[in-house]
Amino acid sequence: MADVSKEPARIAGMFDAIAPRYDLLNHLLSAGIDRYWRRRAIRSIGLTGRERVLDLCTGTGDLALAARQARPGAARVVGVDFAGAMLTIGMEKVRRAGLERAIALVRGDAMRIPVADASVDAVTIAFGIRNVEDPDAACRDIARVLKPGGRLVILEFAIPTNRLFRVVYLSYFRHILPRIGRAISRHDAAYGYLPASVGAFASPSAFMNLLRKHGFHDVSADSLTFGSVFLYTAKRLEV
Ligand SMILES: C[S@@+](CC[C@H](N)C(=O)[O-])C[C@H]1O[C@@H](n2cnc3c(N)ncnc32)[C@H](O)[C@@H]1O
Repeated sequence: MADVSKEPARIAGMFDAIAPRYDLLNHLLSAGIDRYWRRRAIRSIGLTGRERVLDLCTGTGDLALAARQARPGAARVVGVDFAGAMLTIGMEKVRRAGLERAIALVRGDAMRIPVADASVDAVTIAFGIRNVEDPDAACRDIARVLKPGGRLVILEFAIPTNRLFRVVYLSYFRHILPRIGRAISRHDAAYGYLPASVGAFASPSAFMNLLRKHGFHDVSADSLTFGSVFLYTAKRLEV
């Protein structure tokens, strides 16, 4: 059984180690569908071109880039992650896109976000909350940094509920994906950790309750790709 401990140094070290192959494996293992999931997430914010967006657990910056490059896109995006090697690759992508003035990638912790109170219009997280040691602390801090009425959008993997699809999916997710991941990333644990951490993460209804506990309303969870991914959306109270 893979180790699902979320100790920050372990998680940051694991992502630092796989950073050079992270994007390639993301697109390969999801057959490119990850781009669609990110586009759906950004579309759900309903950007107008004026917003300041915070992308937590930004990794190599794909969601931060999607937020800025959408039409209309965010005015400004700040991406936060604690894995320096992931950010280095993200910064190179931002530079290549000529977006250094619109996207800043910053090293920091999603449980102690290095951003002022009530200062962002939307917070996004793609496939990151599952890796955060204390999602409760992260949700509390997200509520702190969002402006009243601000939007929260989270993508996260889940175990599909359809019985037939689940059998096929789990055999891929638990047996084939870790082998491909290990061969390409040359990291023994990371792609065994992925399915194990999805299995250990909160169910969609439990996660929606956590968001409500932190004062979010209009909380919803939309199933994507046969329930293998959920798109959570919520609003911070207008006070
Ligand atoms: C699976 S990657 C997702 C990256 C990116 N959002 C994407 O869609 O490709 C998860 C990222 O979460 C980051 N992470 C996990 N816990 C974190 C925390 N407490 N604070 C900041 N970053 C964290 C990891 O370093 C890693 O880059």
